[in-house]
Amino acid sequence: MSDALRVGIVGCGMIAKKNHLPGFASAGGWQVTALCDVLPERMAEKAEEFKLPEAARFEKDTDLFASGLVDAVAVCTPNDCHYPQTMAACEAGLHVLCEKPMAGSLAQCTDMVGAAKKAGVVLQINQSIRYSAPYQAIVAKVKEGAIGEPFHARCIRAGNGTPNKGWSPGADWFVQKKHEGGMLVDIGIHMADLLRQIMGPATKVAGLVDTRLPDIDVPDNISALYRYANGATGVLELSWTLPGGAGFLEVYGTKGRIRMGFNGNLIEMWQDGPNGGVTTTVNPEGCPNSQKVFARAIRGEEPSWTPGEYGRRALALCLGALESSETGKWIDIPTFPGEDAC
Ligand SMILES: NC(=O)c1ccc[n+]([C@@H]2O[C@H](COP(=O)([O-])OP(=O)(O)OC[C@H]3O[C@@H](n4cnc5c(N)ncnc54)[C@H](O)[C@@H]3O)[C@@H](O)[C@H]2O)c1
Repeated sequence: MSDALRVGIVGCGMIAKKNHLPGFASAGGWQVTALCDVLPERMAEKAEEFKLPEAARFEKDTDLFASGLVDAVAVCTPNDCHYPQTMAACEAGLHVLCEKPMAGSLAQCTDMVGAAKKAGVVLQINQSIRYSAPYQAIVAKVKEGAIGEPFHARCIRAGNGTPNKGWSPGADWFVQKKHEGGMLVDIGIHMADLLRQIMGPATKVAGLVDTRLPDIDVPDNISALYRYANGATGVLELSWTLPGGAGFLEVYGTKGRIRMGFNGNLIEMWQDGPNGGVTTTVNPEGCPNSQKVFARAIRGEEPSWTPGEYGRRALALCLGALESSETGKWIDIPTFPGEDAC
């Protein structure tokens, strides 16, 4: 397709395989013209699996950025690579779809937002819950007032193992501080952000984190309590060590309750009313994927749904919980210009 956007995949590991390579293919309007990984075998595997024999291969990210072969890149590398690679890609004039967590600090996020603005490119963060139809169906129901005013939400996301043993075997960076790993920025960054999307701006957080596993140096168990600007509360519980695992989301409003994970993937809503109220099942509608929204943003058709400002806000919700655990104090959630637009 002649007007297709050309994209390079930086980091050909598990999220490239599960989300980005199929996502760019199904979104339409994209051509994967380059692959980059420090491990050549990863590029060879993905080229074969996704039928990309003509995609150029680069072992060094900056060689790809300077190649003239791409309009955009998807940064799918370990967390500590996101900042330098996004900065370099923006400076090369490339649009960037960067995996979460966007960076290791809020200052780095601000640099990245600034670099994208200066270069006039789109910076989108792959906060993928924002592109998940079931979760977005719950958000929509709450926003349309189906359960009245939401005043409390609780969310549990837990597994009984770490991602380097299950999701991406051997990817030990997930459990190493030096690579900015940890449960909070792995799953917490999605769920804290989802609670914020449902309940509105968060003002403060109290957190407790533990590292229970003997061979890792990042949090593997987290409890966080958020206060929202409208007075509502939200509780987040995350674990990599919960026998059997668990995954629930429940939102309580003044006129009802909506929840998922209590009965498989069913979304059940109870609305107060005569004779004990009514319980219904909510059916998610389709939702565009992140790669489609990224293309629309590049073409100027609509702003990105998850720009850099949104990724920074999600990180602030996580870093506040960590800081609270260290200091034993409530932490105010910082706000930044531009984040209310998303
Ligand atoms: N959005 C989501 O729901 C979601 C889910 C899982 C992972 N992720 C994120 O995606 C990112 C990658 O996770 P993953 O599971 O694919 O990890 P992974 O370890 O499976 O893959 C990372 C790949 O990056 C390569 N790499 C490392 N350093 C590199 C460099 N400097 N240049 C080029 N390539 C390099 C590795 O060789 C590896 O192939 C992480 O930031 C993670 O948090 C997001």
